[in-house]
Amino acid sequence: METVMKVSNLCKTYIMNKNQNNVLRNVSFEVHKGEFISVMGPSGSGKSTLLYTVSGMDKMTAGEVNFGGKLVSQFGENELANLRLNEMGFVFQQMHMLRNLSILDNIVLASYHSEAGKTKEQRKQKREKAIALMKQLDIIDIADHDITEVSGGQLQRACICRALMNDPKVLFADEPTGALNSKSAKEVMNQFNLVNKTGTTILLVTHDVKVAAKSDKVLYMEDGNIQGAFTLGKYTDEITIKERERTLNSWLMDMGW
Ligand SMILES: Nc1ncnc2c1ncn2[C@@H]1O[C@H](COP(=O)(O)OP(=O)(O)O)[C@@H](O)[C@H]1O
Ligand SMILES: [Mg+2]
Repeated sequence: METVMKVSNLCKTYIMNKNQNNVLRNVSFEVHKGEFISVMGPSGSGKSTLLYTVSGMDKMTAGEVNFGGKLVSQFGENELANLRLNEMGFVFQQMHMLRNLSILDNIVLASYHSEAGKTKEQRKQKREKAIALMKQLDIIDIADHDITEVSGGQLQRACICRALMNDPKVLFADEPTGALNSKSAKEVMNQFNLVNKTGTTILLVTHDVKVAAKSDKVLYMEDGNIQGAFTLGKYTDEITIKERERTLNSWLMDMGW
């Protein structure tokens, strides 16, 4: 299996008021192409910091992240920004989109700055791609809407479309269902599964067992370390979901969840 990201002994220390906070302590794991990995763990265990650090948004203190053959620590700010734009996708709990722009324009906009979005012809293709993604995620009917005219679940699906515009090697998501009601959360989660089915590799942080139960593998973080990993295998059939939730729950209990 092809490795798209290899994290080795990653450490992140924040210094605040002269106190050292070792938020990530020697975190190591691999993400293979096509995998859907969830990260769980108590609040403050370092899950968000992990996503920010592996993607170079936050500088690592020690260790190494190999992303698609490139060492993240050796990149400068501009190179990192380009790496994120061209090869990574991000979805957050807070759904940042611009007001006074349609949903479609919001989705297309960032891709215009990417390597494959410069020429007129490329931009036309990007627009077509955005429309195709909106169809795929079942929100094409809100293409011309303003961001204030759509539901939270629709907005989050639009954020997923935006994150997929440049065909990221890995789609990172930090509690993407955290601000949604359970129905919208389920819809959004189903979309992550479909996106993964079409080949996108996903690393997703979640508190929700129902969400994590649909991923291939769950990493459990505590005190800045991965304490264990639980392999569920690919989610293919809805009838297996209750059993997946049960086994994941009992593993999480053993982990001290
Ligand atoms: N920018 C920052 N400056 C200082 N400390 C931070 C910063 N970001 C996070 N932390 C600290 O890192 C720890 C882990 O935070 P975080 O990664 O957000 O955890 P989680 O996402 O698992 O809830 C917390 O103790 C938090 O206070
Ligand atoms: Mg967090």
